[in-house]
Parts: sequence; structure tokens; C-alpha cells
Amino acid sequence: MPNTGAEGGRGDLGPWIVRAYAPGDRSAVRRLALACADPRIFPACLAKHGEWMADLLTRYSTDFEPGMSFVAVDSRGAVIGYALGCQSTARRNRTMLLRILPRIVLRALFSGVLFSCPWVSLAAGGMRSWRAGRRSEGALRGLALAHFHVGVAEGARGRGVGRALLERFEAEAGRSGGSGIRASVLAPNPTGQAFFARNGFLELAQMDAYLPGRRSPVRVILLGKSIGVSASEHAEEESTA
Ligand SMILES: CC(C)(COP(=O)(O)OP(=O)(O)OC[C@H]1O[C@@H](n2cnc3c(N)ncnc32)[C@H](O)[C@@H]1OP(=O)(O)O)[C@@H](O)C(=O)NCCC(=O)NCCS
Repeated sequence: MPNTGAEGGRGDLGPWIVRAYAPGDRSAVRRLALACADPRIFPACLAKHGEWMADLLTRYSTDFEPGMSFVAVDSRGAVIGYALGCQSTARRNRTMLLRILPRIVLRALFSGVLFSCPWVSLAAGGMRSWRAGRRSEGALRGLALAHFHVGVAEGARGRGVGRALLERFEAEAGRSGGSGIRASVLAPNPTGQAFFARNGFLELAQMDAYLPGRRSPVRVILLGKSIGVSASEHAEEESTA
């Protein structure tokens, strides 16, 4: 498959490109998604089961809607960033519930983890987060927003890789008829918040997520941006204003 991504390359990273996701990128994307994820979202009892967490973070996009996935690769072909997404959050949630979560639960049942994890409190937290998510969805009802999730390898950050991935994703979402993009970020993630603010996202709503092993909820900020002004145009406008 030809590389159709934009040329990148700033600083000491060397040349890199953004291109469409291909099935051969799957393992690298899963590894990178685990490395980029906030450790607070992982239950300690599942520390040895990164595969399941990778399923939660990436499997919908890589296996069910790969057309909305992109990778940034360096000159050796190593994946240094990914953008994963979907056109419809409702469809993604349905697939998670019916196809992805049951497989994880079954594997947990047969692996003995059943007895080392506080499943009741994990499930209760999951249900509370799910309900909070449904309430906050009210603010987004009626908007055709593609869902965007991004991660860049630590050593490649701050060089425009995240923005290039966002621009590629945005172009695809626009081609597929979407009117905007949505994303979510934990309130205690200032880098993520700065990234989205700089690229034209506005806050749409907030919700509480009940993360594993935490008594108090963590605030999640739901963000949105309409398709039209590209991320780099927006950043340029901001810096000259
Ligand atoms: C958020 C993340 C994707 C940014 O990727 P990146 O390649 O470093 O971002 P870019 O270099 O394209 O930066 C784009 C803009 O974001 C802002 N930004 C990026 N990193 C920042 C930081 N550490 N502090 C403040 N602003 C930052 C800058 O304003 C930058 O624009 P500028 O260079 O014109 O000033 C990356 O830090 C990451 O993978 N974090 C972990 C995963 C995550 O938090 N994902 C977001 C939730 S889905």
C-alpha cells in the first residue's frame, strides 16, 4: 500500500510520515496504546494482562473500523504514533458491549484472574461510569461527530506528530460526511488538554469516570471541534492573534 501521508520531520526525529493503518501495524499500535495510556485506568490486578487492556483501547478501531485508523512511522518503518477513531460513537459502544467486552470477560473467567480481581467493585465502577457517560451524551445528541483518540511515542512528542495525525483523521472524517470530531481527555492530563485546545477543540461537557481502585471519580472532559478549519490553520491563527 503506498504511503499517502503528509511529510513530517522536525528536530532530531528524522523524516516521518503519516499513512493509513495496515493490518501489519496491529501489534505495534497495541503496544504503543498501552505505553501512552494513563496508568490510572488500569486495575492493578490486570497488570499482567495487557492484551485485554489493548483490546479495550484499540480493538474496535483496528478490527472493526480500520478505515478510520492512521499511523505515523519513522524512516525505519517503526510506528511512532497512532490515531484511532470511529464515525459513530454509538455504533462503537454497541460493538464494545456485544463483541469485545464478552470476549475479555470469558478470557478472564478461564484464566483464574476471577479470584484475584475485585470484580464486583470493578463492575460497579464500570456501570457508574457508563451511566455518567450516557448522561453526558445528552449534550452531544444530534451531532454527527467522529470519535478521535491519539497517542505518540514519548521520544517523538512535541514535533508535530500528534497534529499531523489529527489532520489526517480530520480529512477522512470530513470525506465520510462527518460534521465534526469529538475526543475525551482526563482532567488530570494537562498535556492532552493543551494539545486539544491548541488544535481548536472546545469543551462540550464533563463527566465523572470511576476508575479502578479509586474511591473518588476522575473528571473526564468531552471535547469537540467542527470540521473546516484544519488543526495547523487553527494553531497558526492562535499564534498570530
Ligand atoms: C497529547 C499527545 C498526543 C500530543 O502529541 P505531540 O505529537 O507531542 O503533539 P504536537 O507536537 O503535534 O503538538 C501540537 C500542539 O499541542 C500542544 N502541546 C503538545 N505537547 C504539549 C505539552 N507537553 N505541553 C503543552 N502543550 C503541548 C502544543 O501547543 C503544540 O502546538 P505548537 O507546537 O504549535 O505549540 C502526546 O503528548 C501523547 O501521546 N500523550 C499521551 C496520550 C494522550 O494524552 N492522548 C490524548 C488523549 S486521547
